[in-house]
Amino acid sequence: MNTEMNKWQWFVGVLIMGLILTVSLSSMALASGPLSGLFGEHEDDDDDDGRVLALNDRSLVTPNTTYSEECGACHMAYPAKLLPMTSWTKIMNGLDNHFGENAELDDATRQTILSYLEQESNRKGRIGRILSKLPADPPLRITELPFHKRKHHEIPRKMVQDNPKVGSLSNCNACHDKAEQGIFDEDTVDIPGFGHWDD
Ligand code: HEC
Ligand code: HEC
Repeated sequence: MNTEMNKWQWFVGVLIMGLILTVSLSSMALASGPLSGLFGEHEDDDDDDGRVLALNDRSLVTPNTTYSEECGACHMAYPAKLLPMTSWTKIMNGLDNHFGENAELDDATRQTILSYLEQESNRKGRIGRILSKLPADPPLRITELPFHKRKHHEIPRKMVQDNPKVGSLSNCNACHDKAEQGIFDEDTVDIPGFGHWDD
């Protein structure tokens, strides 16, 4: 009777040990997944840029009435920090032929906007890191910047060009509900007719 009991206890003991071993081994395997993902992200510029923009740069936009009224008349007033000053200066010096339109302003208004853009460019913010990697002659369009291309290349035509409620990627606020406040994280993406974006 006594030996029967011992055998039984031994059996249960081995069973429990086995269980503990299996559970700890599989949780180690699980942990290595997300962990290696984290390390991967640090090396991957793409996700790094996204996080910088979406989460860490809360002060991406300083509101300015003149800017939002004049430069938000035909399209949304693009957050100043999304382009380097070289590009803004070129844009502001060529308003008579602004992407095929006449967006000329009187000189006083133009100066007010220029100093606003300059002030925004000089303001510290982590997005500066993305723009600092640009060539000396950077594009005039946000949509032509490398970070923008990387973030949007997976979105199919039917959701953008062939989507009457979007039309082009320049129309940020069609999909990013809080674009004018400079908030772009994926949770705020809502593509008209298609809804929230799932990676
Ligand atoms: C008369 C209408 C009009 C006004 C006013 C206007 N824009 Fe534009 N803007 C356009 C058009 C049209 C485009 C090209 C849009 C497209 O390709 O879909 C454009 C494009 C842009 C782009 C490039 C967007 C991209 O594709 O990344 C920037 C930056 C820009 N405008 C800045 C400004 C600034 C700064 C002002 C104020 C000084 C301004 N705009 C005022 C019509 C206007
Ligand atoms: C057709 C809808 C659409 C338009 C228009 C659009 N975006 Fe996006 N954007 C997306 C989607 C979808 C994502 C998420 C892509 C991904 O990570 O796979 C995204 C991602 C981003 C991100 C990265 C956010 C993050 O958390 O990683 C930024 C920044 C961004 N967009 C800025 C802009 C700007 C600036 C414009 C306009 C010049 C713009 N987008 C126009 C759909 C759009």
